[in-house]
Parts: sequence; C-alpha cells; structure tokens
Amino acid sequence: MHVILQALMAAALVSLASAAAAQNNQGAPDVGDATAAWRNPKLTPDQRARDLLPRLTLEEKISLLHGDGTFSTAPLTRFSIPSRWMSDGPNGVREEIQTQGWNPAGRSDDFATAMPSNVGLAASFDIELAKAYGHVIGEEARARNKHIMLGPGFNIMRTPLNGRNSEYFGEDPFLASRMAVNYIQAVQSHGVASCAKHFALNNQETQRNSINVEVDDRALREIYLPAFKASVTEAKVWTIMTAYNKVRGDWCSESDLLLNQILKKDWAFQGLVMSDWGGVHSTAKAANNGMDLEMGSNVNAQPARGASPNSNPHDRDYLAAPLLELLRTANSPVSMDRIDDMALRNLRVMAATGLLDPAPASAPARDPRTALMSPEHIATARRIAEASCVLLKNNNNLLPFDPATVKSIAVIGDNANTRFAHDGNSAAIKTRNEVTPLEGIKNRLGTDVSVVYAQGYTRQNPAARGRRGALPASAPATATGPSPLVEQAVSAARNADVAVIVAGLYRGQDQEGADRPNYNLPPGQLELIQAVLAVNPRTVVVLNGGAPISLEPWVANANALLMYWYGGTEGGNALARVLFGDANPSAKLPASWPKRLTDSPAHTSGPTSFPGQGGQQRYEESILVGYRWFDAKEIEPQFPFGFGLSYTTFELSNLRLVEAPVNVSKWTPAIMMMQIEVTVANTGPRDGAEVVQVYVQDVQSSLPRPPRELKGFAKVHLARGQRSTVRIPLNLGAFTYYDPEKKAWVAEAGEFTILAGTSSRDLRLKTEYKLAETRVMKDSD
Ligand code: BGC
Repeated sequence: MHVILQALMAAALVSLASAAAAQNNQGAPDVGDATAAWRNPKLTPDQRARDLLPRLTLEEKISLLHGDGTFSTAPLTRFSIPSRWMSDGPNGVREEIQTQGWNPAGRSDDFATAMPSNVGLAASFDIELAKAYGHVIGEEARARNKHIMLGPGFNIMRTPLNGRNSEYFGEDPFLASRMAVNYIQAVQSHGVASCAKHFALNNQETQRNSINVEVDDRALREIYLPAFKASVTEAKVWTIMTAYNKVRGDWCSESDLLLNQILKKDWAFQGLVMSDWGGVHSTAKAANNGMDLEMGSNVNAQPARGASPNSNPHDRDYLAAPLLELLRTANSPVSMDRIDDMALRNLRVMAATGLLDPAPASAPARDPRTALMSPEHIATARRIAEASCVLLKNNNNLLPFDPATVKSIAVIGDNANTRFAHDGNSAAIKTRNEVTPLEGIKNRLGTDVSVVYAQGYTRQNPAARGRRGALPASAPATATGPSPLVEQAVSAARNADVAVIVAGLYRGQDQEGADRPNYNLPPGQLELIQAVLAVNPRTVVVLNGGAPISLEPWVANANALLMYWYGGTEGGNALARVLFGDANPSAKLPASWPKRLTDSPAHTSGPTSFPGQGGQQRYEESILVGYRWFDAKEIEPQFPFGFGLSYTTFELSNLRLVEAPVNVSKWTPAIMMMQIEVTVANTGPRDGAEVVQVYVQDVQSSLPRPPRELKGFAKVHLARGQRSTVRIPLNLGAFTYYDPEKKAWVAEAGEFTILAGTSSRDLRLKTEYKLAETRVMKDSD
C-alpha cells in the first residue's frame, strides 16, 4: 500500500478507536478488540500509545509510573500486556537479581558476553565498533527478555578519580557523542530501548547522593550535555536516566531546567525519563518537573497501613499511591494532563519495545541458548578489546614480542590472574570463561614456551560495603625492603626472556559507589614495577583501569607501556594478540593523562571544585575540561588526549578543505559545511589502523574559547604500503560556542584554523577557513 495512504488510514483508525474508548467510561474503559490500533505493530509507537492511553483507568496509568520490583514495572493485566523488564548495564546484560531486593536470583541461564568497558570502546575511536558493541547488547538483551537496557552512560571524565570513569566515554563531548549515537542506534535496532545515563553532571561518586553541582551555562552546554543531546536528537534514544546529584539546587530527578526545559522542550525528547534507583525525592515536584518513571525507591518497604499483606513494597513510592492520593485532592498540584503525558511516554517505549505486540512477538527474538555468548559475540568482544589497547611507549620496538623467539616469559601481577567482569556493581556481568591476561598469554604461546607467573602484589579488597557505601582508605605501603612477592617477581623476570607486568586498578577501588582515594597506583605496585624494570629491560608494563593513574617516577625507565581498560570476556586473549603482534594496536587515549593529579583541571582550585564542600561543588574550570585545560594553560601532560602508538607508521598529507554546497532556509548546527580530506599512508612494516583527528581553532572570538577542540575523526585501516584518502565532515556546529547571554549557539564570522593529525598534540596539517556570516541558533534548532 502507498505509504501516505497507509499512514492516513492508520491515523483514522487511531482516532476512531480512541473515540470509542473515550465514550465507554462506565467502569473500566474498553481494551479494544483485535483490530484496536494499539495492537497494530504497523503503526508508530506514538500512534499506538495514543490509542491505548484513553483505554486506561487512572490507576492503570499510575501503575506505569513506578517500578513494582527491582528491575520491573507492573503488567497491565486487563490488556494482557506483560511487565517491562530492565537490566544493567553498559557492558552487557547483568545477571538476574531477585524481584525485590538486590540479591542475585541464583539462576544458571543468566550469563552474557562481558564487553570491554565503555572507556575502552571510546579508546578505539571507531564508530563501527560502537555499532558492533550495541548489536551484541541488543541481541543478548532480547535473548534475556529485557525491554530496556540501562546504558550506555557518558558523563564526561572531569577527574581521573571518578569511580565510574570505566563506564563512560572519556573527556571529550564530541568523541562521547559519536560513541553514544552509534551504540544506542544499534541496541535499539533490536527493539530494545537504550537508557542514556546519568543525566546530568554525575562526574564523581563522592557524595553522589547529596552533592549540589554548580556549573556555568557554557560548560553545561558545550561540555556536559552534547552527548545527551546527540543521543536524543540523532539516536532517538527511548529512555534517559537522571543522575543522583543535584544541579543548581534541584535534584536531577526534579530539575525543571534539565528535564522540562532542555530535554523535553529544546530537544523534543519523546521517550521517558526514569530515575536512578532510589533517586526520586518528592511526588508533586518530581512529576511536574519531568520525571516519568520512578525506579528503585523503597520509600516504605512495609505495605501501606491497612493494605493487604500481599501489596507491593513499592506501593508507597513517590509516584505510586501518594501520587494517586494527591490527584484526588481538591487542588491537586499535579494535573491530569501531566499524568497523561507521563503515561503516554511510558506507553510509547512499551510499544517501541514490543510489549504491545500480540504474543509471541514479545518473547525472546533469539533462542537464548544460541544468542547468549554466541561465537560471533565473543569474536566481537575480542575485536573491540584488541582495538581498545593503547600503546603508550614502545622504545626500540620492544613490542610486539616475536612468538618464534620468546622461549620464556614472566607474567607478573595479580591483575594478570584476575577476572574483573563479575565485579563493578551495576556494571558487573556474569560471564562464562572470562579469559585473564595470564590465560590469554598461555593460550597464545602453547606449551613450548615457559610461562612463569608471579603474583607481585596483593589486591587490597575493600571491606564489604553496601551498594552505595564508601571504601575504606587504602593502607599506606609499609614495605621497608622488597616483599617476598616482589622478590619472587624479580626472580621470575630475571630468568625470563621477556616480562609482562599487569598492574593498575581493579574493581573494588575503581567502580560505582566511591571515587579512587588518590591518583597513585594501588599499594604494592610501585615497588614491584620499579624492581622488575631494574632487572629486565624487556619488560612491558600493562595497566588496567578506567582512567589514568600516576606513572611517576618509573615511566621513564619503562620501555613499553600499554593501557588495557577491563577487556571483558575475551580481554586476556585480546591482550595476548596485541603483545605478540597478531593485532596491531590502534587505540588513542580518550582522556588526557596528567603527570600529577594537581595538573588536572578539577583539582587545581581547592575542595569546592573537587570533591565539594558542605555539599556544594562549583566546576571552577568551566569549559576547560581535559585537553582544553592542558592546552590553554600550557601544561605538559604525561600523554595527550588522542595519543596512541602503533607497530607500523603512518604519514598524513594533503589536507584539503572541500566546501559543501550550502543552500538552506534555516541554519542549524547540523548543516554540513565541508569535508576535510586527508591522505593517509601506511609507511611501516605492518598492516594497521590510524585515527585521523580534526580539531577546530577559533582564531578570534568574542568569547574566550579553548585553543582547539576535536570536531571530527575517522579510523582508517591500511595494509602495509597502502594509502587512502579519508573524508571527515564538519558541520556548522563544529564552529559554534554557546553564548549564555543570547542563550544560543553562535558560529561567529571570521577566521578558523582547521588542524589534522594523530593526537591532540600532534597536528601537523592545517588550513584556514573563513566563515562569512555569523549564525545564531537556538538549542532547539
Ligand atoms: C546506578 C545505575 C544503575 C542502577 C540500577 C544505580 O545505583 O547508578 O547506573 O542502572 O543502580 O542498578
């Protein structure tokens, strides 16, 4: 049928059915027969939701607005619409949790592929891998019957200490936006809703449940919101989770500015806003200021007084019975229109995720036994883990090790023998066969090579703590001479051809719920690394973690250094393939690596800036986050944003700006202005991949701007000797700043320099561009 005709007929159907439902308001409204528009999968989620809404009683509407279990909402039984099921999180489908409470459900079929951490995905600078990542999450979520996946998260890395850095996409809003959009689109293509979290300004875990963040408009719009905006306007994400903290005096869960003004008005978000678990604090204010679905509250674990003992423990949640009671008062502060809007937003997401479809369409799309941890998913996890390893040093081409000549290897460090995936609070995954670095190396080398393992240090396991508890302070290193563990490691390294130390962070001190206590390596590692480097110069230091860590004073003595960010199910195999040259590293740092914490922007102006004082925090550095700060203040980082080595070499040449024909009636930041062409040649001995990065510098501006900002990148795979020309688009948004006076984005007429290169500090190619006219655009444009 002609599409327009089809749409017209569909619209007519919807209004007829809605009218029928509205007329029948004796008792419960009519659910509609088999032809009811809400049941018709050919209609849009909005059409279906609008048909269903008037058929719901007020109680049914309210039942959509809060959880009835830890990760579920109540079914609409009159309509045979089942419960919605959600799951964490950003790196895979979490194990099943008991319906009420937080204990594991104890099942044997709730495993999943543990993908590498999100910060590792960002390090790949590869949007194709972001898509591949999202497809794994989407397929496994369907197989586990999840309708909403609680991820990805993309709060900006403001400080290396944030406990959740591994769950986010690094320090740059453009990089985070590209990763988020591709990840979300892929997940949602499977009929599973993504959830963009945590909106907004959850940039630390310290006091996350009470801190009030004050940030200026420019930093908010230019640094902290772009990835959320792109998720809404480009990826059409179906759900957004509010952060626990306050912004400008209001809880994020009841922030009129964030939810009503920015998200729903400026960005025209059509999906639902959900709270973080237990993050709602009021009824009327939350409802009026934009909350649509309250999750994880436990306002009254006991059933309401007078309620039947079987009533749900969530009955007294803020958007449950208290909301209904408020609506029944004479002057209810919450209007019925708002209730309809909240319900409609929930219904749209339910339609989009198959919940309104006739059974068995809402049953798992793929047989869980074949979809979960399928060979393709495992291969994708490995490919991404390989592409996430950042080679930071490689003196005299120590790496890759030649498997034909290495006869003995010392593998050192507790992290080499640790599985990380099943820890990490809400980012934890129950995965089968997570390959540790030690296992990966053994798998790769087989039995002819002697692999000697030495633990090197003991992991300091934090005392048991609640989900939101603080970590005990780390015990100071007390060693007065080499500890026995270090002695064993030194002896293993001395007697081996090559040594690999796997150190760095581990879950427990690098996860949700608390920030790292300091920038140091965990206890015992400094001594170990220095002692091993002193006896075997053919040592590679591999650091695990979600963020930079102090490398002083030993980094100058390390010949090879590799960053490995919680590699997931296949992490150890991926690492071994990088170490032995089966895979050529091509990742780049998604965050600047400070020499010392006090160089880092959040840590330069005292406790008000980090971690806050008296419950208040002010982001003093404003827009100068990450490399923007290091560049503006001319501080030498240990390694710059966008930096990473390869086993081959690349040459970039012939930067050319090809202006796009622009013929528009309305200027918006999305208007394509030009393509930047760069020729890349693989001039070294191996096949490999390079990331061409394009930065824009405003030569003269009415408002202060960072020296340069990433506005485009492309990953190019080239065989040895091959060359190719890449095209990187720049839109008008690449030239804008946010003007707080005008409350608008401004692309100011004048000169811009466009730089291209292979890191934020290696930009050898440049060209000038003159923007002829100033364009002022609203955030809603
Ligand atoms: C976390 C969220 C998570 C939720 C459900 C919260 O503590 O902040 O990211 O999705 O728990 O587990």
